[in-house]
Amino acid sequence: MKKKQSVISDSVVTDTWRRELKESGYETPKISRWDYIKFKLLTRAWRRILRHTRLRRCRSHRALEFGCGGGAHIVPLAVNGWACTGIDCSPEVLSRAQQYVKRVNEVCVGPKIDITLKCADFLNYKPPSEGFDLTFQFGVLEHFLDSEERFQYVRKMLDCTRPGGFIVSAVPNGCHVLRREQREKGLGGYNIPEIDYTPEMIIHEMEQAGGCKVKVLPHDLFGYLKVKDGSAWQLRTNRILYLLGQIPLPKLFPFRFVKRHAYWWIAIAKKPVIDNLAL
Ligand SMILES: C[S@@+](CC[C@H](N)C(=O)[O-])C[C@H]1O[C@@H](n2cnc3c(N)ncnc32)[C@H](O)[C@@H]1O
Repeated sequence: MKKKQSVISDSVVTDTWRRELKESGYETPKISRWDYIKFKLLTRAWRRILRHTRLRRCRSHRALEFGCGGGAHIVPLAVNGWACTGIDCSPEVLSRAQQYVKRVNEVCVGPKIDITLKCADFLNYKPPSEGFDLTFQFGVLEHFLDSEERFQYVRKMLDCTRPGGFIVSAVPNGCHVLRREQREKGLGGYNIPEIDYTPEMIIHEMEQAGGCKVKVLPHDLFGYLKVKDGSAWQLRTNRILYLLGQIPLPKLFPFRFVKRHAYWWIAIAKKPVIDNLAL
């Protein structure tokens, strides 16, 4: 069934983020040459995404991030030669991101990184006609509690992407074992309400918006241990368990186990060459 595409923008959620990030949030970290090497190697999440999309690390691909915050996710791609655009609704957070890009450029060995930052509600953003190879979001979508509103954002991600390109949505796992405690105690992160995503919900959302070949990767096994409090001894044990969880062996565990212990879901969908929803 085709969905109507009325555009709601500057929603309550977007406005809440603007207020939340006005004074602080995503402060610019110090950057050293060592960070530059880490950017070059990419994070594990990015390495997995590139493996599954078969996009190349050192190519001049074009990427767009919706809700880029301080720029932590676009900078590593840009260091690897990608042309990146970051959209965020908070002008203050974007000026912190701008500062971050400046610092990265100061330690850059090669050419300056190519990052364009724009302040806008993502639904109002006008993408270039050729579209992006990859449009992604990390930790933004789950804050839109209304499913119709989420649909519009996912649909917009596809609209910004070239046919045959990809959209990626990384959202916290709503079924991990510490989820309730994390919410009740406000552990790790902002106190802006979010939905509890399951892999089935993400697949449904991406397919409904017109994406195809949707894959959902469980990510950051035992990652919830990073925000768990406790005695010094418990924190040390948690750290060891967490590091063990980073050994990339998820295929050894049954999915039921992974569903309870992954901290994130990374969903990847392809934009069909013929866009069925636009017909
Ligand atoms: C939880 S933060 C995630 C930041 C970044 N993706 C990261 O993982 O570091 C959510 C970000 O989305 C931005 N945001 C929320 N609604 C938005 C909208 N409608 N359009 C653009 N940005 C939005 C907020 O300002 C905030 O910077």
